[in-house]
Amino acid sequence: MRTLLRMFAVGLTATALAGAAYAAGPEANTIKQGKSIGDADYQWNSGGGEQDEALHLKADVKNGRDVYEVCAACHLPEGWGQHDGTFPELAGQHTKVIIKQLADIRAKNRDNPTMYPFALPSEIGGAQAVADVAAYIQTLKMNPNPGTGDGKDLALGKKLYEENCTRCHGADGSGDNEKFYPRIHGQHYAYLVRQYEWIKAGKRRNANPDMVKQIQTFSERDTKAVLDFVSRMKPPAKLVGPKGWQNPDFK
Ligand code: HEC
Ligand code: HEC
Repeated sequence: MRTLLRMFAVGLTATALAGAAYAAGPEANTIKQGKSIGDADYQWNSGGGEQDEALHLKADVKNGRDVYEVCAACHLPEGWGQHDGTFPELAGQHTKVIIKQLADIRAKNRDNPTMYPFALPSEIGGAQAVADVAAYIQTLKMNPNPGTGDGKDLALGKKLYEENCTRCHGADGSGDNEKFYPRIHGQHYAYLVRQYEWIKAGKRRNANPDMVKQIQTFSERDTKAVLDFVSRMKPPAKLVGPKGWQNPDFK
């Protein structure tokens, strides 16, 4: 089963992310968790349900490792994702952000038809598994060599970043665990572009409405420039792994 999943993951392309047999919306949703864009009274990170449950549990890192075996098929054993942006890097991401995103995906408040069937309670367990796998991901060091843009417009990227992003993602792209603001530095450029475009267009349904507003005037050139700059920002050295590191937990 694991090998099959890995073969499936390798064969995926970014266009497959659109998903065929997956209907968005709350119908099939048995997991309680917040709301999403499209709900009349959407409030970002209203939490509740599985997210709050997972946040209050004591995490078991060893069980988190076992849960992560499923995730490793796509996000790789190191949690480093892929340069083409198909699968994001998870290593280094804040615990609260991992828990929120996973709970949102499981509750269909963030559409992810590729991952959804593998991330359900029937596959990995309930809120405890969410807490455990988030804790295991904290043990992984970040990719020292993320995918970047073409590097041709970095001065514009820096200016746009400083004027539009620091108030939430921080001066160096670290985000904020307590506020559920994601770490974005060192993430693969192609993944950043996809998320950014989806956020701007209202397609990422768990987005922060203040960010959506903030980026409405961004042209294609602005988008590429700012995200190229973000992908090249250096995370703190203590969070970054050595080149070519392989996770011994999955040998
Ligand atoms: C079949 C492939 C697949 C599997 C298995 C998988 N994921 Fe994912 N995951 C994805 C894809 C694809 C995305 C990005 C979707 C998008 O573009 O919005 C993603 C996104 C995420 C995100 C959001 C990251 C961010 O920066 O916002 C988290 C968190 C995540 N996955 C955690 C997990 C965990 C934990 C597991 C194991 C329980 C797992 N995934 C298993 C494919 C997978
Ligand atoms: C008002 C606060 C705010 C501002 C300003 C803001 N963001 Fe965000 N951003 C967020 C939050 C919160 C999320 C996560 C939303 C969620 O819960 O899914 C996010 C998500 C993202 C993501 C997706 C990350 C992932 O791992 O999936 C990217 C990329 C991003 N922001 C880039 C930017 C850039 C670049 C700027 C500046 C041009 C910016 N943001 C401005 C709050 C903000």
